[in-house]
Amino acid sequence: MTTVPTDMRPRNAGANLKTGAAWMRGRVMPIGEAAIPLNDWGLIHSDITYDVVPVWDGAFFRLGLYVERFFRSMESLRLDPGMSEAAVKTVLHDLVSATGLRRAYVAMVTSRGVNAVPGSRDPRDCRNHFFAWCVPYIHVIRPDIAQSGASVHVARTVTRIPASSVDPRVKNYHWGDFTQGLFEAKDAGAETVLLLDQQGNVTEGPGFNVFSIKNKHLVTPAAGVLEGISRQTVLEIGAELGLVTETRTLPLEELLQSDEVLISTSGGGVAPITQIDDRLFSNGSPGELTTAIKERYFEWAGSPAYRTEIDYEGA
Ligand SMILES: Cc1ncc(COP(=O)(O)O)c(C=O)c1O
Repeated sequence: MTTVPTDMRPRNAGANLKTGAAWMRGRVMPIGEAAIPLNDWGLIHSDITYDVVPVWDGAFFRLGLYVERFFRSMESLRLDPGMSEAAVKTVLHDLVSATGLRRAYVAMVTSRGVNAVPGSRDPRDCRNHFFAWCVPYIHVIRPDIAQSGASVHVARTVTRIPASSVDPRVKNYHWGDFTQGLFEAKDAGAETVLLLDQQGNVTEGPGFNVFSIKNKHLVTPAAGVLEGISRQTVLEIGAELGLVTETRTLPLEELLQSDEVLISTSGGGVAPITQIDDRLFSNGSPGELTTAIKERYFEWAGSPAYRTEIDYEGA
């Protein structure tokens, strides 16, 4: 694996970088020093894509799947990172290695960049900009809450942006719908929010996919959502545990009739949902199958088959 040249690494990297670091233009730096220009289209037009891979106990989990999805997103938006998948993996590896973080949230980002032709409104004139950053691991649902089961509010004032406008399979920063929904959820005393599509079917929440378990059927929405890597892992684990797995339309009324509800995210793996609005699931505590899936998820995260170990010695 090629490394970031040592002369580009800050001295005493472990001490400087353990709260977060970025890789920009070939240099690793403390995250507080990383910046993009104010006229970058990523900032002024949300013209940007990203992906996030978790690091568990010193190894990336399913790294190849995340980097492949990142490249699919860039292709869809006609963004060019200017490097290969292998080179992106090397950057991520060297970045995490330089921080010494053994549990980390690692983001890879490509922005449309700054328009190189003064006055041009043509996206083809922009210089695309790839960068990466990592911070200590982030949980979408706080671990203590994920342990006992989280409450979800179904948004009423906002629906998910239609997939025909912004393709949710391309990871994006168009979070206006989620943020409005989160305000609604917090005001209602719930932990997080679930958005419906314009027909009243379940989509997803800010940073997670959702699953219904009913009579040993594990169901998750097929469309209008990010095809989460954790969602894929949960579907694979579900099949391994003998559940019937289904990706299809999931109306809210059906979700509310579930035996168990769970969410999947790279920011915490699997978390039980024990309440949606006023409805309690499995008597308000994590269900048996959800717990089994969650345990298996962390066994997979520890398995050499899915891990890309980080070499911290080279940092
Ligand atoms: C909108 C949305 N849905 C679902 C997910 C879960 O995807 P993954 O399991 O790949 O983290 C995320 C993750 O950030 C997300 O932002």
